[in-house]
Amino acid sequence: MEYCKHHTIKENPLILGIESSCDETAAAIIRGREILSDEILSSAPTQALYGGVVPEIASREHTIAIDEVVQRALKSAGVGKSELDAVAVTYGAGLLGSLLVGLSFAKSFAYTLGIPLIAVNHIRGHLAAAYLVDRALRPPFVSLLASGGHTAVLFTPTETEFELIGSTLDDAAGEAFDKCARVLSLPYPGGPNIEKLAREGEANIAFPKMCHGGENFRFSYSGLKTAVINYCHTKEQKGEPYNKADVAASFQKAAIDVLVEKTVEAALRKGVDTVTAGGGVIANGYLRDTLSAACRRAGLKLVLPEKRYCTDNAAMIASEGFIQYKVRNFAPLSVNARAAIPLAERRQTE
Ligand code: KG4
Ligand code: ZN
Repeated sequence: MEYCKHHTIKENPLILGIESSCDETAAAIIRGREILSDEILSSAPTQALYGGVVPEIASREHTIAIDEVVQRALKSAGVGKSELDAVAVTYGAGLLGSLLVGLSFAKSFAYTLGIPLIAVNHIRGHLAAAYLVDRALRPPFVSLLASGGHTAVLFTPTETEFELIGSTLDDAAGEAFDKCARVLSLPYPGGPNIEKLAREGEANIAFPKMCHGGENFRFSYSGLKTAVINYCHTKEQKGEPYNKADVAASFQKAAIDVLVEKTVEAALRKGVDTVTAGGGVIANGYLRDTLSAACRRAGLKLVLPEKRYCTDNAAMIASEGFIQYKVRNFAPLSVNARAAIPLAERRQTE
C-alpha cells in the first residue's frame, strides 16, 4: 500500500528534514529550495573525549537532542507542525542506532500529521546541498563528493539519477584526513584540525600522489596514509625533529590536488558546463580555493555549498527530500535504517 496515496503534490512544499546518521542531530525546514531554518546539535565535543565516534554514545545523544532540535527548527522557521507537507529523513548510510533515532522520530511525526515520509540516502543529501545554493541549478552537471565515508566523481543527468564516474579503491578522503590527524596527535575531528595546522606549514614534503593522471577516475588514499605514517615514524626512530605543520600541509595538498584535477577532467570529458561539490571535506579551505581556481581556468561554473552545508546537516536532507517528493517517492512506514548503501544504488528505499 502506497503511503499517503492521495497527497496532492505542491510546487513549493514545506519540508522538514531530519539527519542523525553520525554525531550530528539536525533538523531543517525548507520551502521549495529556500532554507527557512537549519538547526544542529553536535555530540562531537563528547566524542572528542574518546578520539572518535562511539556509536552507543552517539545514539544516546540523538535521543536526548532530537525533540529539541526539531522544535527549534519549527520555531526559527516560524512554521507550525500542521503546515508541513512532508518529512524527509536520512535512513542510511550511517550508524544503525543513530539512524533509528531520527527515522523513528520522523515516522511518528509523519504518521501523526498524515503527511508523506521520504527516506533519504545521506550521500544523495550531500549532493543535493548544491540545489540550495543556486536555486536555478539544473542538471546535467558533474559533482565531487568527498566525505568521511565516500570519495567519488559523479555525473548527474537528471535530478533523480546519477552515474558514478569514479570512486576510491580504499579509504575515503575524509577518513585519510582523520587518520593523518591521529598520526600527528591532533584531536577529533581530524579534517578541520589538519587544515588549521596546515596553514602554519609549507607543502614541502613529496608524498606520493595516487592514481595520478587524467586517464582514470580512481582514487586511493591508503598509500598516502602509509607514506605519512612512515615519514613520521622514521623521523621519530632516528630522533630527528620534523615539522608537523609541514606534514599537514603536504598531506593536504597531496590529498586534495588529485580530487580537483579529476573533477575538472571529468566535467570536460562529459561536456558539462557546471560542477558541484558536497561532503565534509568540501569544507576545506584549500580544496575550495583550488577547485574554484581550476574551474575558473577551465571555464566551468562551480556551485559550492557554504561550509556548514558541506558537513552533515538537515537542510541537504530536506533538499534531496524535495527531489523525491516531486516524483512521489514516499517511503512506507515499515522502511528500515541501513548501515550501508552502495554508492551506485539507484533504488531509493526497499
Ligand atoms: O560529510 P561528513 O560531515 O560526514 C560523512 O558523511 O562522512 O564528512 C566528515 C568528514 C570527516 O572525515 C572530516 O574529517 C572531514 O569530513 N572534514 C574535513 C574538513 N571538515 C570536515 N576534511 C578536511 N578539511 C576540513 N575542513
Ligand atoms: Zn555526511
